[in-house]
Amino acid sequence: MKSDKMILELTDVRAKYGLVSALDGMSFDVGRGEIAALIGPHGAGKSAALKAICGLLPVTGGEIRFEGNVVNGTSMEKLVEWGISYVDEKRLIFPSMSVADNLALGAYRRHGRTAADISSARATVFQLFPVLEERLEQTAGTLSGGEKQMLAIGRAFMSGPRLLLLDCPSLRLAPILVRKVMSAIFELRAHGITTLLVEQNVKAVSHIADYSYFMEKGKIVAHGSPAELLSYSNGSRLVS
Ligand SMILES: Nc1ncnc2c1ncn2[C@@H]1O[C@H](COP(=O)(O)OP(=O)(O)O)[C@@H](O)[C@H]1O
Ligand SMILES: [Mg+2]
Repeated sequence: MKSDKMILELTDVRAKYGLVSALDGMSFDVGRGEIAALIGPHGAGKSAALKAICGLLPVTGGEIRFEGNVVNGTSMEKLVEWGISYVDEKRLIFPSMSVADNLALGAYRRHGRTAADISSARATVFQLFPVLEERLEQTAGTLSGGEKQMLAIGRAFMSGPRLLLLDCPSLRLAPILVRKVMSAIFELRAHGITTLLVEQNVKAVSHIADYSYFMEKGKIVAHGSPAELLSYSNGSRLVS
């Protein structure tokens, strides 16, 4: 292990979709308690990186460590138990169930959560996203896009993760909702959550990220402060 300050360490990670290489020697670290952003053009492998970390995409080479332990080949269910939670860019919630039941299911994805853990997590979710408390009995499928994103993040938080992986939380959201979601992610840091988020909205993420990584063709090609990444992505390279 390189450092116990690192919650996540990827070393030369490779992964494929069939014959298509999605991750081609990807290496980067995320420090405990940080917000790290992964940015880059469409098809760079950003979603693939999150899927590899949370056990949804098989890793064919290299090493992924979570809190010092190698987690390659571990199932997503097990990784939820160990403290990793993932929100897909499609914001997969259960549309025919209520907001309350979606949140309850998030908590049950991890065994051993006490009633006190669950009620404290619910209180935090309502503090971050008051609208969810107002809409507790509403069917999730009838929420707006922004509310669905809040519910997806809230549900992920209910499992008590130490590492949250978010794929494009700002996608298709109006600017005011982008700000709301970004500030909620920022507040989650005060609850001890480390977040790795993929973003297309580099400007929005630059306000909250501690550190950013720029990906192209399956690997990290630049990294730095959000300001450095902003100027990098404003250059000749187009961020999609
Ligand atoms: N389900 C899939 N089947 C086959 N190839 C895929 C699939 N999803 C992504 N890919 C390919 O893997 C590479 C990385 O994709 P992805 O991780 O989705 O990129 P990003 O999230 O950066 O836009 C791309 O070449 C993409 O075409
Ligand atoms: Mg993607």
